[in-house]
Amino acid sequence: MTSFDINITDAALEPVTLDSIAALAPEATDALNTVLNASGAGNDFLGWVDLPSRTINSDLIDEIQAAANVLRAECEAVVCVGIGGSYLGAKAVIEALKGTFANTKPEIIFAGHNIGEDYLADLQDYLADKRFGIINISKSGTTTEPSIAFRLLKAQLEAKAGKEEASKLIVAITDATKGALRKLATDEGYATFVIDDNVGGRFSVLSPVGLLPIAVAGFNIRALLQGAADMQAICAKPESNPAMLYAQTRNALYRTGKKIEILVNFNPKLHFFAEWWKQLYGESEGKDLKGIFPASVDFTTDLHSMGQWIQDGERTIFETCISVENPSRTLVIPNDPDNLDGLNFIAGKRVDEVNKMAEAGTRLAHIDGGVPNLKISISEISEYTLGQLIYFFEMGCGISGYMLGVNPFNQPGVEAYKKNMFALLGKPGYEEAGAELRARL
Ligand code: PA5
Repeated sequence: MTSFDINITDAALEPVTLDSIAALAPEATDALNTVLNASGAGNDFLGWVDLPSRTINSDLIDEIQAAANVLRAECEAVVCVGIGGSYLGAKAVIEALKGTFANTKPEIIFAGHNIGEDYLADLQDYLADKRFGIINISKSGTTTEPSIAFRLLKAQLEAKAGKEEASKLIVAITDATKGALRKLATDEGYATFVIDDNVGGRFSVLSPVGLLPIAVAGFNIRALLQGAADMQAICAKPESNPAMLYAQTRNALYRTGKKIEILVNFNPKLHFFAEWWKQLYGESEGKDLKGIFPASVDFTTDLHSMGQWIQDGERTIFETCISVENPSRTLVIPNDPDNLDGLNFIAGKRVDEVNKMAEAGTRLAHIDGGVPNLKISISEISEYTLGQLIYFFEMGCGISGYMLGVNPFNQPGVEAYKKNMFALLGKPGYEEAGAELRARL
């Protein structure tokens, strides 16, 4: 039996109270209606709102599965090329579901999310003796990082398999009509999937952007969508809406000086889920000189690094813990006759029982240290619960962004570094800016 729950009781630390959080319900209801009625800023980017229910009843799932099956049959490795929203969702879900030390079959490798020369050269070496395919994902079709990676990998694949064979091993996911990648895909005859105009990158994991790589990795995309669709139904009304409660709580905390939210896990499989969450909330809320700074930690690992700061540092933080009730494996701590480490008192217990006590002890210590704590519980990590979590956080983000008074669906700030990079690289049209910037180096 799967379950999902949000508990905000321990978020109510003075001056925030359960009453002051509840008092934000009308504001959150307005924000929810702004999302559902598409009446706010960024309303041309609301395609994610009914994406789960729309997709689960469409032929698209079968088309994605068929394309995935081709790559699964032909490839030892599939490189997913993309950055930001065109990368993090698939990475988050695959890392959460796959065995920690086992590769999926085919192995899923990510590229195009950095401009690391070593990374790309090492990748080319790694692929040299492997049958590989490429999923090239870019909504705009012009993003520098994935374009560089794709150039290199396309050339490598064509040199290895021949142009015609290579074109059968490349899938492009991009805009329906616009952009360089759409043109290239048409010219080269690649299989393609569309990123809808009204679905922004960081809200696209439940579109082909996330679904195709996840299906190639061998995971159940229908179950993922079912979890999301069920959460969509729960979040479509103001009564007992967990996304509203999350948005109310974090805004109540933010307004009393809690400027940093730390997403906590006690299961390292969720590390990249936090990376996806950071992009979702960072790009959606950090604008107009406002926004909660999204950070993340893996516990207990980071209790031995960041734990000191969280317990005793400046009181500007709150934590949101994703608690997984049941691990998928069972491991019991053995008895040791010598007991030199003094740990026989936990012999016979499951490793997870110790982890759960670490989780409970940490929560209480951090509350005592003045760190408000929200707890989101899922019964286990599965396609279904990840779908629930994804939609919950997406809707929470839309509501919270509107409560904050920003447009949660644009990202004007990400252009600044690109302009400077192009100018410094001497891109035609950027000459004047390039000269000015070079003088500052
Ligand atoms: O959320 C977003 O819109 C961005 O993070 C994009 O996903 C990212 O910049 C990649 O863009 P594109 O898919 O156009 O290459």
